[in-house]
Amino acid sequence: MASIIAGVGSSHVPAIGAALDNGRTEEPYWKRVFSGFDKSKQWMAQTKPDVAIVVYNDHASAFSVEMIPTFALGCAAEFPPADEGWGPRPVPVLKGHPELAAHITQSVILDEFDLTIVNKMEVDHGLTVPMNLLFGTPKEWPCRVIPLAVNVVMYPPPTGHRCYMLGKAIRKAVESYPEDLKVVIFGTGGLSHQISGPRAGLINSKWDKSFLDNLTKDPKKLTRIPHIDYMREAGAEGIEMVMWLIMRGALDDKVDEVYRFYTVPASNTAVGHIILENRRKAAAKSKRAAAGRSKQAAARKAAHRIASKGRR
Ligand SMILES: [Fe+2]
Repeated sequence: MASIIAGVGSSHVPAIGAALDNGRTEEPYWKRVFSGFDKSKQWMAQTKPDVAIVVYNDHASAFSVEMIPTFALGCAAEFPPADEGWGPRPVPVLKGHPELAAHITQSVILDEFDLTIVNKMEVDHGLTVPMNLLFGTPKEWPCRVIPLAVNVVMYPPPTGHRCYMLGKAIRKAVESYPEDLKVVIFGTGGLSHQISGPRAGLINSKWDKSFLDNLTKDPKKLTRIPHIDYMREAGAEGIEMVMWLIMRGALDDKVDEVYRFYTVPASNTAVGHIILENRRKAAAKSKRAAAGRSKQAAARKAAHRIASKGRR
């Protein structure tokens, strides 16, 4: 059976991608940002998911203003990086998981969430930047990816509550998929930022930190935040944070926060990052550790028996 073992929240600031692609990661300004993800890369290398479901928003790369689906699930076999004006980012093409994506689509739509099925789609920095932050810059991505594009660019975006409930439906879908797959789900975007208008440059660290605290401890509280509060407190583009609630809805009610990072600014955005593990994952980990310990103890006993026989 497939299972969602953990959730990752990460900003997807386009300038982070540009810093990576132009070899600027060692500059002090960018080192501050990238070093916050060193532990995350280690965690991801140890976790080794088979599939990453990446909740992100398209920035007029795959969809124009002519057509903006509220929730669009990528069911294709692969997703090339989009040309965002300077050519596609030099990152590998992402391999999809069409079978699991089709299964999620069926389960979630029959649970009355009207997903748009997307069989051909390019993906922009909203998806590729968090992939780099968690997986580095490999020649091939080490896991399959299922993109879930959410409309947060044209009013009305979905409510936080709707996002949270969609996360629950996705979890149910994943857990009814028969193949043994380890799945990690990403919520991306935010945190507070506003890129235009008289309030351009707005960052609200107090709001961001409270959002991260509640994401771990009281996500239901976050589901009651109306759009206008995101706009007022976190800036016009702060509304991207509702996407983190899809990730959170797909996890256990009680989770272990294993890592958090927050820094201001990257470009004109607050960078937030969190890793939340389902407790079942932690339980499985300690079961494996206990099994390892008893194996070692048995090996020690056997060695002792052999040594005692030798002495006799
Ligand atoms: Fe964005």
